[in-house]
Amino acid sequence: MVKKAQLTYDDKSLDLPLITGSENEQAIDISKLRSSTGLITMDNGFGNTGACSSSITFLDGEKGILRYRGYNIQDLCEHASFMEVSFLLLYGELPSVKQLEQFSHDITKHTMLHESLRKLYDAYPRDAHPMALMSAIACSLSTFYQDSSDPLNPDHIKVTIFRMLAKIPTIAAYAFKKSIGQPMIYPNNSLSYCANFLNMMFSVPAEPYEVDPDIEKALDQLFILHADHEQNCSTSTVRMVGSSHANLFAAISAGICALWGPLHGGANQEVLQMLKHIHEDGNDVKKYIDKAKDKTSNFRLMGFGHRVYKNFDPRAQIIKKTCDRVLSKLNINDPLLDIAHQLEEAALKDPYFIEKKLYPNVDFYSGIIYKAIGFPVEMFTVLFAIGRLPGWIAQWKEMMESKETRIGRPRQIYTGPNERKFLPMHKRQA
Ligand code: CMC
Repeated sequence: MVKKAQLTYDDKSLDLPLITGSENEQAIDISKLRSSTGLITMDNGFGNTGACSSSITFLDGEKGILRYRGYNIQDLCEHASFMEVSFLLLYGELPSVKQLEQFSHDITKHTMLHESLRKLYDAYPRDAHPMALMSAIACSLSTFYQDSSDPLNPDHIKVTIFRMLAKIPTIAAYAFKKSIGQPMIYPNNSLSYCANFLNMMFSVPAEPYEVDPDIEKALDQLFILHADHEQNCSTSTVRMVGSSHANLFAAISAGICALWGPLHGGANQEVLQMLKHIHEDGNDVKKYIDKAKDKTSNFRLMGFGHRVYKNFDPRAQIIKKTCDRVLSKLNINDPLLDIAHQLEEAALKDPYFIEKKLYPNVDFYSGIIYKAIGFPVEMFTVLFAIGRLPGWIAQWKEMMESKETRIGRPRQIYTGPNERKFLPMHKRQA
């Protein structure tokens, strides 16, 4: 039997088909609603709106489940590399040894930036936020590959995906080097994806630098945890921009901007600044818990709460363990970690946070790890972006390949003035 929902309004009634996903989640298909009734639906913040069908990522916020292409995030973190996970997200299956070798090779040969692009960095102030640089340079890539960035041409798509994955770590590391006045370090294609990034970030021409394999592993795992999260703000932005058939560079550049906001990926930078502030203010955790609950204050406990997770964020649980591991390996005793533990403990016992189902999210502990590795706070959201890149691209690719895709164009309910007569300047009030 075909399942349907029935909508009744005034004296009319309309049958609306139900769509069922592979994990039995259900949606009411309202695509014919306006043409049949003249009505649209309203859903501020899209909390109840499905914008697409997708076979990439499944998450169940009530049960704290996150899977990429059916594989549990815990298993992927434990057994796979970021390159394997990127392949999985993009092409739907885990790669064989040969496929992974080819994929890594295809990416590696595109790691360098055009020399003119390198010079572009000099046009920006030294204290420019690296997310601004990343977005600008990612979009600028389109000007260097005008003959191969047609989003409808499969050969162009293939090479653009490799270029994007290869060049984003280089773009990010150059932004950091620019901010501290050190020479930019060229990519080293004999290193792994993460080791090459660490090398471009932290090595200097004057002395040898060796990548710590434990740090490389931790970063790889953090990238896996960030790699996709279905239709979040930045991914929806990438899809929206891509739906107009803008090229992939432009769509990713827009996604980077969306991620930058403190309610989204920018929260990892905010968390660390908040922990620092609490520390400098005498470690009074209760004061800040109370402030977060106070409706007259704008303060929120950064790194807490999530639109979808209403139980726990499985990414945060893994990151918390990685955090302990990295800090103990580096022999770091960070007072901010103690504050984070105290905040978590206090919030999890507090009726306000319990009732509103606010738990630590992916951003709560990640910054402490990044800080321990040596990344400055301004780079935290950049790291989120590098991790999220394969997810953005996979979602963009899926959208471009789907026959159902139409340009994204929401409706509105107009609440402005009704038609009025034009008022000449001399008759207008001050
Ligand atoms: N601290 C204090 N109160 C909070 C918090 C918080 N971190 N988050 C939500 N609330 C309250 C909020 O005031 C509201 O209360 P009320 O119902 O009384 O008005 C209620 O909980 C629901 O919040 P909301 O803002 O309507 O929920 P949302 O789903 O629109 O927003 C969120 C989700 C993540 C933007 C929000 O929880 C938040 O601002 N958290 C802090 C920023 C943060 O950590 N963002 C990273 C998200 S995870 C990484 C990513 O995917 O980007």
